Amino acid sequence: MGYDILSTVIELTDGPGALRKRLAAVARLLVETHRFDQCAVYEYDARERSFSLLAVHGARAGRKRSYMAGEGLVGRLSRERGVLESHGGTLDSDKGFAPYSSAYVFTLSDTTRLYGALCLKSFEPYRLSGHAMELLKVIALQMASVMKCDRIYRGLRTSLKDLKLMQSRLVHAEKFLALGDMAATLAHQIKNPLVSIGGLASRIGRSLDADSACAPYVRRLVSEVRRLEEILEAIVGYSEDRGARFAEVELNGLVDASLHNFDEQLRVHRIEVRRTRRGGRLLTFGDGEQLKIAFDNLIINAIQSMEKGGVLDVTTGICGDFVVAEFTDSGGGIDPRHVGDIFNPFFTTKDGGTGLGLPITRTIILRHKGSIEVTNRTGEGVTFTVMLPRTPRGA
Ligand SMILES: Nc1ncnc2c1ncn2[C@@H]1O[C@H](COP(=O)(O)OP(=O)(O)OP(=O)(O)O)[C@@H](O)[C@H]1O
Ligand SMILES: [Mg+2]
Repeated sequence: MGYDILSTVIELTDGPGALRKRLAAVARLLVETHRFDQCAVYEYDARERSFSLLAVHGARAGRKRSYMAGEGLVGRLSRERGVLESHGGTLDSDKGFAPYSSAYVFTLSDTTRLYGALCLKSFEPYRLSGHAMELLKVIALQMASVMKCDRIYRGLRTSLKDLKLMQSRLVHAEKFLALGDMAATLAHQIKNPLVSIGGLASRIGRSLDADSACAPYVRRLVSEVRRLEEILEAIVGYSEDRGARFAEVELNGLVDASLHNFDEQLRVHRIEVRRTRRGGRLLTFGDGEQLKIAFDNLIINAIQSMEKGGVLDVTTGICGDFVVAEFTDSGGGIDPRHVGDIFNPFFTTKDGGTGLGLPITRTIILRHKGSIEVTNRTGEGVTFTVMLPRTPRGA
């Protein structure tokens, strides 16, 4: 609940686009109150070492969208601080300033950080008075502090998103813990009588004549008991963390091994597999056997969604600090009403499905400190994206 209030406050005080709007208003005011023809505000990205246009007002000429560090008058601010000025046609090499005779560039920074640049340009030669210069320096300081606040807000917003994600994972984990306890108890209670029923049914089957009218019923009884045993196995496997064995593993190898398990089914159902590999060796720290179970589940679901043929795109690669495996099928997608339920234990739309495939997959991926996301294109197909932390040498 606390997060919701914080989220509303952030939304009210600093909704999307608020910074751009505020700076555009400042740019307009500066053009209207001085003899400048254009005012442009750039934001500095320290990671990219570039400036990008955030707001502009006035003449259309020279609206350059970005500067790399060191490039032109704006780019020089990555090394220098204070006010840069240029007069009398010395700016020809800089596309953003070429048509202008006079230009001033004010650093937008505080004592530690560079936030951006404020550019004022005029077609006619124009020099600021000492008083106007002082005033603009104060305005630049004020703008820098607004940009600083915006960065803090953006940081907060990201942390809030992370917190919400963590919270939902925690709820998920708690649900599973409770379910795990219950499942383990139930499995114990049910398994023994079930084994007896199965054994007895098999004995009855063996004692019947092959042409007995009861034989098909008994066979059915035996196969249904076996199915129940498999379901119990799946529940137990899901609820216990079976002493995972972690080691450095390579994602491509695991995904290919899983795909290989289904060669026959893919062929029978006329499913074309398109395999794309990006980024060389994709190393992660994990339990290879468990990860293969997770990929198997995604591939089985894809096959089941394309029983009359289709295309399965399997792409592996790197995204930041993660290795990624993406499974995209052309099986028509998930009914939008069900998308929120597919990771819930026992949710299934299939005759004979246990509804444990995806929850098991998710639990395995979460145990690896990874994530699994679904992108549903109703009527077309589904993409499951698995991300796992990349080991430092993996690339
Ligand atoms: N690739 C997919 N395309 C369409 N629907 C899907 C896909 N993957 C999962 N689903 C939906 O999510 C549900 C839950 O999937 P999950 O793998 O957990 O269980 P299941 O496949 O029904 O049963 P089980 O995996 O035990 O055989 C499925 O019943 C199906 O409705
Ligand atoms: Mg399944």
